[in-house]
Amino acid sequence: MNSRRFHLITGAAAAAALAFGMHHAHAQADTLKIGVILPMTGQQASTGKQIDAAIKLWMAQNGNKAGGKTVEVIVKDDAGIPDTTRRLAQELVVNDKVVALAGFGITPSALATAPIATQSKTPMVVMAAATSAITAASPYVVRTSFTLPQAAVGLAEWATKNKIGKVVTLVADYGPGNDAEKYFAERMTLNGGKVLDKLRTPLRSPDFAPVLQKVRDAAPDALFVFLPSGQGAQFMKQFGERGLDKAGIRLIATGDVTDDDQLNDMGDVALGVVSSHHYSAAHDSPANKKFVAAFEAANKFRPNFMAVGGYDGMRVIYNALNASKGARGEALLNAMKGQLFESPRGPVLIDAQTRDIVQDIYIRKVEKKNGQLWNIEFDSIKQMKDPGKSK
Ligand code: DHB
Repeated sequence: MNSRRFHLITGAAAAAALAFGMHHAHAQADTLKIGVILPMTGQQASTGKQIDAAIKLWMAQNGNKAGGKTVEVIVKDDAGIPDTTRRLAQELVVNDKVVALAGFGITPSALATAPIATQSKTPMVVMAAATSAITAASPYVVRTSFTLPQAAVGLAEWATKNKIGKVVTLVADYGPGNDAEKYFAERMTLNGGKVLDKLRTPLRSPDFAPVLQKVRDAAPDALFVFLPSGQGAQFMKQFGERGLDKAGIRLIATGDVTDDDQLNDMGDVALGVVSSHHYSAAHDSPANKKFVAAFEAANKFRPNFMAVGGYDGMRVIYNALNASKGARGEALLNAMKGQLFESPRGPVLIDAQTRDIVQDIYIRKVEKKNGQLWNIEFDSIKQMKDPGKSK
């Protein structure tokens, strides 16, 4: 068959398909849909705002073609309610036939969706939620955020090397908080430190006043804190108001508390707070400088660690679609495993065995530069796997 004749035949076939109303099915086969579920409203809305902005930046920079097809992103708001996340995931899989699910602002939303990913063989890219066990909830989960054991162990190592012997822990009372408390306390104890008390606040509408009074009474060298993104500013305000900083109790935290989304408005009480995390907007690399400049130009706010999880999540999906030539299901999942790339946070690997992220964890201190507050990295632990996977 010569090529001219081939064109004539396919042209005729296309015309016939249109005539019989098949254009819709044809268009669908050429479009790869990604179903993103985020808390765009409610208590976790800053997470949704950051990830949505990062996804839009990725698309603006990389176009809407991957795996030889057109990519369409569908964003749904679950308001951080796990029953809603599950229902939206079901609709995206059944009605929209998405090739991948993505987003997941909090652990309960990710855990509610994992069985749907397994049953429908749909890769599920967790861009935010950070409880270690999420990757074990479905073989279709791939994570581009971080885990709380990664952040907590790094900080405990720093604390014991820096004359912090007696600590109190304070965490949000759910998955990531349990992980943060357990891994921080275990490593402190292993290193000869002492955990005087373990305090918890509810995920929804926490009141920090009663626990801060307990911290004051216990008079530890330092208070270790994990709170989810969005609660840091309120906590920091009350920590200052109750004079804990003046009482000589050092504040150390996972980077969720000194969140770049809120840090600049926290005021001087945040100065000197040491935290550990996988991303700071102040990370000193050419890739990050480009990312932050483009993000701020598009959004007029600073990207935080949630934005980077979303940006890299899109990268993992695009890379996998390209490598698999637009495959679905297990073939797409397999193309996500083992990816190695330079993120704005630094070098990262999607561990092929665990499907979790391996990355550098940085120790940072809040400093003022040119009138703005930043998490300035001063030490790092290279290529840390999730310590939660060994148990
Ligand atoms: C989770 C949510 C957060 O906002 C965060 O900073 C860390 C973990 C979570 O629910 O897994």
